[in-house]
Amino acid sequence: MTNTCVIGLQWGDEGKGKIIDILARDYDIIVRYQGGGNAGHTLVINDEKYVFHLIPSGILHPGKKCVIGNGIVLDPGLFLDEVAELSKRNVNVNGNLFISDRAHVVFPYHKKLDLLIEKQKGDLMIGTTGRGIGPCYTDKMARNGIRITELYHKEHFKMKLEKTIEEKNRLFVNLYDAEPISWKEVYEEYSAYADKISPFVCDTIELMAKAISDNKRILFEGAQGTLLDVDFGTYPYTTSSNAAACGASSGVGISPKQIHNVLGIMKAYITRVGSGPFPTEVVGKLGDHIREKGGEFGATTGRPRRCGWFDVVAAQHSVKINDVDTAVMTKLDVLDDQETVKICTGYKSGKKIYHSFPADLDALDVCEPIYEEVPGWMEDTSKVRNRDDLPKNAINYIQTIERHLRLKIEMISVGPERLQVVRT
Ligand code: GDP
Ligand code: IMO
Ligand code: MG
Repeated sequence: MTNTCVIGLQWGDEGKGKIIDILARDYDIIVRYQGGGNAGHTLVINDEKYVFHLIPSGILHPGKKCVIGNGIVLDPGLFLDEVAELSKRNVNVNGNLFISDRAHVVFPYHKKLDLLIEKQKGDLMIGTTGRGIGPCYTDKMARNGIRITELYHKEHFKMKLEKTIEEKNRLFVNLYDAEPISWKEVYEEYSAYADKISPFVCDTIELMAKAISDNKRILFEGAQGTLLDVDFGTYPYTTSSNAAACGASSGVGISPKQIHNVLGIMKAYITRVGSGPFPTEVVGKLGDHIREKGGEFGATTGRPRRCGWFDVVAAQHSVKINDVDTAVMTKLDVLDDQETVKICTGYKSGKKIYHSFPADLDALDVCEPIYEEVPGWMEDTSKVRNRDDLPKNAINYIQTIERHLRLKIEMISVGPERLQVVRT
């Protein structure tokens, strides 16, 4: 039995969903451990596209259990939309999809606060997804949150919600000059959600403990990426949870000893959505070209993603934090038409050279990337399925990155479709 944690090594959208779907075949349980509706994980199977925000990306495999762990912040309306969409497409989720009764609930006031806080920040806005993630985690840590289990204690839920919304309304009206919200409407809406999600809700700690004692294989599905991790990313331009592998233990309720293998996903280049430092960002014609060719538009918000060259310094930071065992490189095909491909191997700021990722955002803002240039391959890789059949220069590019990261790239993705992978 080997359990694997799949994490993003960059600023999210590395193609985790596609890879989880491919790996899911070899596991019994696929579990999300952090984040919420901010995630957008895309799968393409025979030209059919699926985007999951909350439901684990293993759900298309019949017979696998998919678990939404306690570390998730769950928007029940969004969850039910996803279930409805799957049922429209004849995917059965009954009996194989579970929500932790300890997960925190995202309420309309969280989403409203998310937008108001962003607006108030002005130029310093984070560029959040507006899904209420930060405010929900804030309430969790301040011990003002409402957990799934509380939805089923009607009187308690009513009283707590009324009191919470009363407090939020004071903020809306007095601090943000915004409209208050009606607790009664939210109560009715969420009571209905509670009934509808009840078949999925259970004590996932027990479920996971039994799975472990039965030697089931577990695949942990990270959301976002290590550079968006609240502790290790470009804080405050991060999300509000531990997207790194360390989040899997607390977000699922299992011992760290149960994570045996860490698989890092990275694009052949790098992207980020929202604000924050991005040393290798490429703006202008080339950046636009990569965005168009790579379809780099947010799976959750549709926002254009910022694009740039592969950043070894940032990737090494992520490899270190997660002690990554092996890696998958996605979207190699997007670079097929580049005559020269650049790899950033260090940052330069005045006389100082950085080879490790600095915590200091000012340093990241002003540093200049040091690039190693390698020749491009100028060939279509999208139909290649064996590593040996890749163009020589593409192999050289992959090996150069493997050398810098001291990491084996065990799979290369060359298109959005499930079958478009090169195995080694
Ligand atoms: P995730 O959040 O890490 O699951 O990634 P997203 O789904 O947000 O973004 C990845 C995007 O790239 C999606 O549109 C995928 O369909 C697409 N994709 C994944 N792998 C590849 C690949 O190897 N090549 C190309 N061209 N597209 C890919
Ligand atoms: P997946 O799982 C890319 C970014 C937002 C913003 C910052 C904070 O698809 O890789 P939040 O709404 O979490 O408070 O936003 O984090 N962000 C993502 N960027 N992919 C994601 O998820 C992201 N989830 C959040 O754009 O910069
Ligand atoms: Mg995504």
